[in-house]
Amino acid sequence: MDLKDHIRRVPDFPKPGILFYDISTLLAHPDAWQETVRQLEAGVAPHKPDVLAGIESRGFLVAAPLALRLNLGFVMLRKPGKLPGPTVRHSYALEYGEDAIEMQEDAVTPGQRVVVLDDLLATGGTMRAATDLLHEQGAEVPSAACLIELSFLQGRDKMNVPVHSLMSFA
Ligand code: PRP
Ligand code: MG
Repeated sequence: MDLKDHIRRVPDFPKPGILFYDISTLLAHPDAWQETVRQLEAGVAPHKPDVLAGIESRGFLVAAPLALRLNLGFVMLRKPGKLPGPTVRHSYALEYGEDAIEMQEDAVTPGQRVVVLDDLLATGGTMRAATDLLHEQGAEVPSAACLIELSFLQGRDKMNVPVHSLMSFA
């Protein structure tokens, strides 16, 4: 099964000139989605995570089924202001402006092996912020994984951990 056949490409979304890689069609196809999670498991399990971290919001869709499959807990990395209690934050630069990612202060313990999951690696800004935040908390990040990599944006070059992607679009 070629998982790429289940990704819908939507021109001019969210802005004119941008080609959007839509996972809705993959999520809607049970066999393709099962195969996706199987392939992710094969890529992630060898890194022996203690816990998984999913990046809001589409990364939650990836991290949650994999956590169940690997019998691991799952930590939410969220957009600012969404999590209750004491949180820690990492800010990062966008093309225009700044964004940030947050997690609960007690979500990981120093030395824990945390694998980061998201649906898509584009410029790599989001995933790098996630690994930076986890490193700042003393976690080890043996790898990160995503479904789709837009290799022409060279997000992988921004990363400081190995990245496993299931599909690459050039
Ligand atoms: C998209 C995508 C990744 C990120 C990749 O999320 O799901 O998280 O952008 O971009 P980057 O590599 O250039 O940082 P988005 O912010 O659109 O939000 P969503 O997941 O909540 O839909
Ligand atoms: Mg996202």
